[in-house]
Amino acid sequence: MVDKAGSERHLPVMAVDVCEMLEPRPAGRYIDATLGDGGLTIAILDASAPGGEVLAVDWDDDALARSKKNLAAYLDRVSFARSSFERIRELLPGHGWGDGADGMILDLGVSTHQITEPGRGFSFQKDGPLDMRMDQRLTETAADLCNTRDEKTLANIIYRYGEERASRRIARTIVERRLREPLETTADLRRAVKDAGVFGRPGHDPATRTFQGLRIAVNDELGTLERFLEDGFKCLRPGGRMAVLSYHSLEDRLVKHAFRKWASDCICPPETPICGCSWRAKVNLIVRRPKRPSAEEVERNPRARSARLRGVQRI
Ligand SMILES: C[S@@+](CC[C@H](N)C(=O)[O-])C[C@H]1O[C@@H](n2cnc3c(N)ncnc32)[C@H](O)[C@@H]1O
Repeated sequence: MVDKAGSERHLPVMAVDVCEMLEPRPAGRYIDATLGDGGLTIAILDASAPGGEVLAVDWDDDALARSKKNLAAYLDRVSFARSSFERIRELLPGHGWGDGADGMILDLGVSTHQITEPGRGFSFQKDGPLDMRMDQRLTETAADLCNTRDEKTLANIIYRYGEERASRRIARTIVERRLREPLETTADLRRAVKDAGVFGRPGHDPATRTFQGLRIAVNDELGTLERFLEDGFKCLRPGGRMAVLSYHSLEDRLVKHAFRKWASDCICPPETPICGCSWRAKVNLIVRRPKRPSAEEVERNPRARSARLRGVQRI
């Protein structure tokens, strides 16, 4: 879908399933921790009409500006904040929601707008500065990583976060190339991957995994999620629900383990003979296995294909 300004709008993923999981109700308070273009916020506001409210959060200035326009018809029920979701709990008292929300959604990763806008540097299809910062206040870009990290660190980033088997070869080519001149554009990085002799899976650009790895590193996506998952259930009121949509196995594993811990009555190491922890379950799991998008949704919106949806309800 293309908006009035000619840029591609993000189609919300699994919106019906997210609403089934959160069960929005009139007068409920909901947090959209990853606002993007606002599609899931709209779904929640519609499902909680006439009185439900959403606190809409994103760390990307562009996303906030765009969704303020997309949400023009709902401005009496939505408020906006620029923040990383790992710090959302600090925002709640100032918002009058000190005791938490009735529901919260995290829709992880990047939006279609971020990916397709060449100026943001996420796109290997269109040339642009090698940036990849979702939050423009972050100090290091993908170009900075490519031009300053040693070969082993680059290889680890590309292997661990991009799950790219040719990571060492790619890192070596990047380092050789920057001795001649620094990498500055997405085309420079794409060329380095090509020069490393990487072919990629059929139907996928060979640079896909390398771009993913660097993007995750630039934005510290796993660290941010891990820190949120330490005690993110505290954003919820008793009975409040949380849904998380993730798009690759590294994220989903973190969510699965955190939700299991939150739902457990003991977190002692398995070899401990007698429970000595005072931990008690904070949540119930809403689903044991992640929900996946329907084949029909994937056909309509191919970006949904790797989505996994998990949810918990605070006790
Ligand atoms: C997949 S998009 C969300 C799309 C949105 N649900 C919609 O329907 O348009 C992910 C959004 O989360 C934001 N984001 C990613 N990590 C974040 C973080 N740690 N804190 C706040 N926002 C984050 C990105 O900037 C992006 O706008």
